[in-house]
Amino acid sequence: MKSKLPHIGTTIFTVMSKMANEYQAINLSQGFPNFPVDERLISLLKETADENTHQYAPMAGHPMLMQEIASLTFKNYGRAINQETELLVTAGATQAIFTAIQALVHAGDEVIILDPAYDCYAPAVDLCSATPIHISLEADFTTDWNKVENACNKHTRMLIVNNPHNPSGRIYQEKDLQAIEQILAKYPSIVLISDEVYEYITFEQKHISANTRKAIIDRTIITSSFGKTFHITGWKMGYLIAPEHLMVEIKKVHQYVVFCVNSVAQVTLAKYLREKDVNTLGAFYQEKRDTFRTLIKSSRFELLPSEGSYFQTVNYSSISTENDVLFCERLIKEYGVAAIPLSVFYKDKTDNHIIRFCFAKDNQTLIQAAEKLCKI
Ligand SMILES: Cc1ncc(COP(=O)(O)O)c(C=O)c1O
Repeated sequence: MKSKLPHIGTTIFTVMSKMANEYQAINLSQGFPNFPVDERLISLLKETADENTHQYAPMAGHPMLMQEIASLTFKNYGRAINQETELLVTAGATQAIFTAIQALVHAGDEVIILDPAYDCYAPAVDLCSATPIHISLEADFTTDWNKVENACNKHTRMLIVNNPHNPSGRIYQEKDLQAIEQILAKYPSIVLISDEVYEYITFEQKHISANTRKAIIDRTIITSSFGKTFHITGWKMGYLIAPEHLMVEIKKVHQYVVFCVNSVAQVTLAKYLREKDVNTLGAFYQEKRDTFRTLIKSSRFELLPSEGSYFQTVNYSSISTENDVLFCERLIKEYGVAAIPLSVFYKDKTDNHIIRFCFAKDNQTLIQAAEKLCKI
């Protein structure tokens, strides 16, 4: 049978995690926390499981959770969303992104993706028989917005950005948001997906959300992930915010992708959101980032900036000239630490000898990994 995604194999995250298991390496590759989830969240989950919450939730989301998300969005970004028309609870940000792309991108359209990019964007575009246009970020992972603007034309339907950025850990400055606004003003048919799953994980500088940009919110879809915010990646819970005229189309697809998402998880998250201050997350991960950076400071890896997300990228040029995939394989086999090579996030497999570590791990794991990395 002819494949609809002929170039897609097993993702690098699965490959590296499997190899890490095989060689019993410390897994700093895939982006998931290895420390316990808040006991309060677990007890709310148990409590909710004892309630009458086991049937289908309303299609767009449970009203309790939608109300909490609306309050959160107002509290953090000053944006008053209409929860009836502008909010959709999804099975993680992945489903939010997939659904938005399927709903809004037509065959023959072009979608601009900034490489290195999270791996779920391009395949969703391919499935629409549209064309992903890949533009590489600069060597320091900042964006040359002139390059983005030069790639726009009458076929461009969508621009996908990710802030804070996976894999680089960089975050947008005011000038980046201004540049996006200028591009969207110039090309009225482009809609923006702003993937903000790490919105609460920023360090020295506060996250600038597209939610705060009045000039573009009428054409912007913003995605968020409870998996990242509450250390529960396995729950696969997230949401998207979009203006009503786009949401009408997105909901049409959503109802045939999942119809609605896990009702017990939705009610539990609504209760938890009433109690929890998400703004403590940045400091929590900043401590982990600082611990990890201090621990590997004396290694031969060059530490690159990590301004947000739970990723630390490093350049290994002073250790080896081999390509980043081979280097990561050897890192697992010979040194017992798993990382992700950055080339896999590029369409053209750009290899700048940079790899990504995930520091969303307990301190013992970080110490053990650092000990090994300092021996290289
Ligand atoms: C940039 C980015 N977007 C989206 C996702 C997917 O989020 P979720 O697990 O909520 O589907 C991830 C997960 O790693 C991510 O890093």
